[in-house]
Parts: sequence; structure tokens; C-alpha cells
Amino acid sequence: MHSPISEIEFPQNLTTERLTLKRICHRREEWDEHHIPTDILRGIQQSIPELKQRFSWMYPDVPQSYEMSKTYWDMAGLAIQNHSFHFAVYCGNKFVGFVSLDGREPALPSFSIGYWCVTPHAGNGYIFEAVSEVIRFAIEDVKAKRLDITPAVDNAPSRAICEKLVQKFNFEYVGVKKNAWRHLVTNTLCDCAIYVFSQPD
Ligand SMILES: CC(C)(COP(=O)(O)OP(=O)(O)OC[C@H]1O[C@@H](n2cnc3c(N)ncnc32)[C@H](O)[C@@H]1OP(=O)(O)O)[C@@H](O)C(=O)NCCC(=O)NCCS
Repeated sequence: MHSPISEIEFPQNLTTERLTLKRICHRREEWDEHHIPTDILRGIQQSIPELKQRFSWMYPDVPQSYEMSKTYWDMAGLAIQNHSFHFAVYCGNKFVGFVSLDGREPALPSFSIGYWCVTPHAGNGYIFEAVSEVIRFAIEDVKAKRLDITPAVDNAPSRAICEKLVQKFNFEYVGVKKNAWRHLVTNTLCDCAIYVFSQPD
């Protein structure tokens, strides 16, 4: 499907007061070292209990580093045509988290927003600051027509971020989707909250 943004060259880095957001986007010919960057790998390893509660790529077993490298390079390759945007978030030279715009409808375009924090760096406002800049980029530069965030209803830290986005960017709280998925660890039914931003052409 044709995407109105597939040919556009977007900046490699975004910056905020405290943070640098480095875009993960590599052409195949750059794949000489097929390893996930060590700081990102260490960040994942430091956050396993929290990530395992929320992300299917951590389940049923925490991936081995070679599997994470493959996922990382697949993600980087797909990002070349602006289908998705992934940002590794740094405070100085510390890797503190990750924010993604996962492509949904290329013709609009629309994206689903995902994020996680390296656990020892949580509680500093880094992810809200980073997500805010990624959303500004999505609205103003990418001209996304719809952005969705769908945290589990009981994911209080993530919903706190969503509520601040309602205030800052006019995200709309749409409501609860019942039985959205089964919990990866407990296999219980989970509801998710739906927050949506939209703008006209
Ligand atoms: C969701 C998640 C990213 C939230 O991380 P977080 O660090 O709590 O989120 P924020 O960046 O918004 O930081 C919030 C805290 O920083 C503090 N803060 C905000 N701005 C700050 C600043 N400028 N300086 C210092 N501290 C600040 C706030 O007081 C807030 O703490 P509080 O909740 O006790 O009030 C994290 O819990 C996580 O990675 N969870 C696992 C993955 C996940 O669930 N992802 C979302 C799926 S939808």
C-alpha cells in the first residue's frame, strides 16, 4: 500500500531539554556487525521483570542475545521506509528507554505508540519527556492522522503517561476494550484502555 511518507528523509535524532532520541533505522549494507548495541541489551536485561509482564517478545522465555539482535536488525530494516519509527532514548550517554511509533495504516498514515523505561531509570520523567517529543514529531513532521495508545487498564505508570498526553496533546480517552488479550504470564483475560489522537488532512 502506498504511504505518503515513504520517500521523506526524516532526521536521525530528536532532542529535548534532557534527552537525545536516536532513531534506529539502518540499511542492509550497514549490517556488518549483526549485534544489538550493548547498552540496549544491558537495558533490556536490567528490566526483565517489568518487560516480561507487558511484552510478547519477552515470552515465554527471555530471548537470547542473538534472538534480540535479529529482532533489532529486522526492526531497523523495516524502519527504512518510514513504516515505523523506533527511538533509543539517552540522557547524556546513559540509555534510559525506548519509544516506538509502530506503523498501522500506511495510507493515512497511522501509528500505535509503545514505550518502556530501563527500570533503574524509572520515576524521572524520562519516558513522558521522550514520548512527548515523539508525538510532536508524529503530529508536525510525519503528519500522522491517527495515533493510538492501548495500555492494560491496570498498568498505572503507563496510564499516568496517557493521562498527561490527554492534557498536553488533546489525546481522547475513548474507553475500555474488554478482553483485549490474555495476560502473558497469568493467562487471565485483560482489558485495555484506548487513547487516540487524530487530526484532519
Ligand atoms: C510505563 C513506564 C514507561 C513508565 O515509566 P516512568 O518512569 O514511571 O514514567 P515517566 O517517565 O512519566 O516518569 C514518571 C515519574 O517521573 C517524575 N518526573 C516527571 N518529570 C520529572 C522531571 N522533570 N524530573 C524528575 N522527575 C520527574 C514524576 O514525578 C513521575 O513519578 P510519579 O509517577 O511518582 O509521579 C514504565 O513503568 C515501564 O517501562 N513499564 C514496563 C513497560 C510498559 O508497561 N510499557 C507501556 C506499555 S503500554
